Amino acid sequence: MSETLERWGSRRAFILAVTGAAVGLGNIWRFPYMTGENGGAVFLLLYVVFVLILGLPIMMAEILVGRAGRRGPMHALAHLARQAGVSPHWRWLGLFGAVTVFFILSFYSVVSGWSIEYLIESVNGNFSGRTPDEIGASFDAFLADPLRMTFNHTLFILLTMSVVAAGISGGLERLNNLLMPLLYILLVVLVGYAVTTDGFGTAMAWLFTPDLEAITLSVVLNAMGHAFFTLAVGACALMAYGAYMPDHQSLPRAVAAVAVLDVAVALLAGIAIFSVVFSQGMDPAEGPGLMFVTLPIAFSDLPGGPLWLGVFFLLLLLATWTSSINLAEPLVAICTDAGLKRGKAAALIGSLVWLVGLLSVFSFSSLSEVKWLAGMNFFELVTTVPLEFFLPIGGLLIAIFAAWIMPASTAMRSLDAGPGGFRLWRGLVRYVSIPLVVIVLLSALW
Ligand code: PHE
Repeated sequence: MSETLERWGSRRAFILAVTGAAVGLGNIWRFPYMTGENGGAVFLLLYVVFVLILGLPIMMAEILVGRAGRRGPMHALAHLARQAGVSPHWRWLGLFGAVTVFFILSFYSVVSGWSIEYLIESVNGNFSGRTPDEIGASFDAFLADPLRMTFNHTLFILLTMSVVAAGISGGLERLNNLLMPLLYILLVVLVGYAVTTDGFGTAMAWLFTPDLEAITLSVVLNAMGHAFFTLAVGACALMAYGAYMPDHQSLPRAVAAVAVLDVAVALLAGIAIFSVVFSQGMDPAEGPGLMFVTLPIAFSDLPGGPLWLGVFFLLLLLATWTSSINLAEPLVAICTDAGLKRGKAAALIGSLVWLVGLLSVFSFSSLSEVKWLAGMNFFELVTTVPLEFFLPIGGLLIAIFAAWIMPASTAMRSLDAGPGGFRLWRGLVRYVSIPLVVIVLLSALW
């Protein structure tokens, strides 16, 4: 613990650690394809609104609880609940978060495995000189090959779990922080390229001129789930980070910085990807493969393209690696709290996640037609329900706990934004965020 406390001894280090958890597949992979499937600008608009009025205040709530509890999520919740004179059963919220991250991690690893495959392919120059159609076809062929997918999924689980087992995530975070600026630079370069393509104007109009009449319940639900997912909020994973937050640091300022860094990645990736989509006459609603088809096409048009494509996938891998460590950590912590050694806990969790991940792997081949719920195969199910229902439900309960149950003085100290800032935050959570999540969830379940 002392090593970790030291690690986040500075304000900047805390912001970078949380950014490491936040920036990942959600920004570069999921944001573009969800935007594509949900009609463009309306989704983007709702997503940004939800980040502001739900994601940010609830992220503050989540970190605030961890910071006030100064221990792992389940213990922190039980301790604070007792302090507030309510039932320590609140601790089960920590377990619910763990179930959520378990399922998220199971597909996260599979899709991060796609980045490993693409990293290797691009280093081998396998995308150079290929037509867009060929690039699309090779992605489909990859999905249809469960062996290659399993290999990469396994590799990614090993990468994640070995860092978690060794307890060296601090080192990886430092490396990540060192290299992340390069990801932003590459994204800016890609946007520079996008400006020169025929599809740029269409992409900008499609992303930034919302047709409010196109708002449907499903777009609202998708955007809400995505806001939680991309900020890593609602699963008590960030709560654990709060426990190590330095004493004198304003929480609203810290999370605002994270949100700006997080949304920026999504926007830059979105502009680049949709410019390619519209220049190539592709379908924006192409689905989870969108990024894996558009980016090789974009880079192959640029000088030194194959090399930069490789660098891009390497950076994406690093970004997903730090996110997956944040996903795995609470699971391993539950096992170590139960008395298991760290290495054993990581092996156990890694194996279970790996097994469940196989269901996602095979969702693109032999299990593609096996429907689990509401016509969804396993991959579709696991990329929908935990994100669109579990995260908001978890976030809702965290918000209720922080804004209604914790004594105001404790919460105020932990927010560290003065009495005015505290009242503003609590008012927002109590009367905007909480009712909004309830309304959206209830309308979706009706
Ligand atoms: N925010 C991460 C991403 O966008 C995913 C994540 C969700 C990480 C929940 C931790 C907890 O890729």
